Amino acid sequence: KILILDFGSQVTQLIARRVREAHVYCEVHPCDVTDDWVRDYARDGHLKGVILSGSHASVYEESTDRAPQVVFELGVPVLGICYGMQTMATQLGGKVEGGHKREFGYAEVRAHGHTALLKDIADFTTPEGHGMLKVWMSHGDKVTELPPGFKLMASTPSCPIAGMADEARRFYGVQFHPEVTHTVKGRDILNRFVLQICGAKPDWVMGDYISEAVQKIREQVGDEEVILGLSGGVDSSVAAALIHRAIGDQLTCVFVDHGLLRLNEGQMVMDMFARNLGVKVVHVDASEQFTGHLKGVADPEAKRKIIGREFVEVFQAEARKLTRAKWLAQGTIYPDVIESAGAKTGKATTIKSHHNVGGLPETLGLKLLEPLRELFKDEVRELGVALGLPHEMVYRHPFPGPGLGVRILGEVKREYADLLRRADAIFIEELRNTVDPATGKSWYDLTSQAFAVFLPVKSVGVMGDGRTYDYVVALRAVQTSDFMTADWAELPYSLLKKVSSRIINEVRGINRVTYDVSSKPPATIEWE
Ligand code: XMP
Repeated sequence: KILILDFGSQVTQLIARRVREAHVYCEVHPCDVTDDWVRDYARDGHLKGVILSGSHASVYEESTDRAPQVVFELGVPVLGICYGMQTMATQLGGKVEGGHKREFGYAEVRAHGHTALLKDIADFTTPEGHGMLKVWMSHGDKVTELPPGFKLMASTPSCPIAGMADEARRFYGVQFHPEVTHTVKGRDILNRFVLQICGAKPDWVMGDYISEAVQKIREQVGDEEVILGLSGGVDSSVAAALIHRAIGDQLTCVFVDHGLLRLNEGQMVMDMFARNLGVKVVHVDASEQFTGHLKGVADPEAKRKIIGREFVEVFQAEARKLTRAKWLAQGTIYPDVIESAGAKTGKATTIKSHHNVGGLPETLGLKLLEPLRELFKDEVRELGVALGLPHEMVYRHPFPGPGLGVRILGEVKREYADLLRRADAIFIEELRNTVDPATGKSWYDLTSQAFAVFLPVKSVGVMGDGRTYDYVVALRAVQTSDFMTADWAELPYSLLKKVSSRIINEVRGINRVTYDVSSKPPATIEWE
């Protein structure tokens, strides 16, 4: 196993992710664990190496965090990244100076000599024959004097000691961040460290993650009970399946149907969880309540607030009935942790993430159980498949909490929701059924999110011999990797044609279909 000590960098989990991608087991622990803790951790002989992460602090403020000194006495390789390299230098007798111009972003680093870590790894070679790496840097302080026993491993004009190595002790430090994808050869460097220098075996798979997570959940929860708000989205579904695997009937899921779900969604969720997986699910039909409160409200923000508030109310009412529940489980994943917490992830300060159900933990007096906190979306999906959830459920497009409430422009009416649900289902069905010959993938898989939007305006049409005066739907399909920016998808005309004709013919009440060709920014993905 590899031990990653976290100094609070936002990208520490990316280090863990890269190590997992090399199929090596690793754990992230806060940097302020004690010497005794580390000794104990290494006692079973499975510890193959240590990675010291970067720090949030090094960029903005002085940090006094140090690695437990014993890390350098275990006889295993150590890699310090950014702040991790600086603390390594300080603790081993070198010098670090602050107050320099901050270096942030892309840099080209010259790799010196032939250290075991960087040997033969380069993005290009200069005319003088120097191997060069394209990297991502983010630091203010820098190492100005090598500790005894170290030699220079890499440099840039503004950071003469951008890498250092003590090959006898197998200690390495890099000022740049190999864990981010902007460092082109970063993955090779981390693989080299973990697999070759540490000699860790690449035998870790997602199945191992499940047994470890199951064990941890059992230890945490004991014989207490857990409730979870199941939305039908990927994250809460995978969390439910994982927790159910660990504690079975000690888990109760609450599925709130606010009347703004997609076609057959409630049925689908109940079938999969209650019937197939045997998970206890309380299905609450709260559609009347939501529709009632949304009556006459047209402002998007007001609608969002009402839906959020009602959701919390329904969920709380259900939670109160489960008197023995002591835990609230959430499908919080790592990007949520970064978004809602910012810095100091996992280190010292405990961060509460209220991403999924705002404000619930305090008012309910429940402890938080978030077994997916360390995983990225694609890892969550892989985990879901390994847990036996169907592929098409795990690879679904995201669906917003307020549901169709933000896809019906202006006032939400049941009549509109019914029309939209049917149009949306046709669009999704055709996306799933249409395969792009160039890639062999369906257009559903080639888009990141796709849906129909209901426009409460009427336009004139003609059907048979008669005039129609009906509503409009807009189709929206986007491609994006992070949902912060997005391009509208260039769907084939033949597909649009089929969807349009099916919707107009099959959904009485809609006589016009448009395609949204706006990118984000300046538009957003959802219309409200
Ligand atoms: P926008 O419309 O801001 O959406 O470009 C970006 C992504 O976020 C989703 N979204 C939400 N998800 N609750 C959610 O759980 C919400 O209130 C919400 N609003 C937008 C949206 O579907 C897209 O994937």
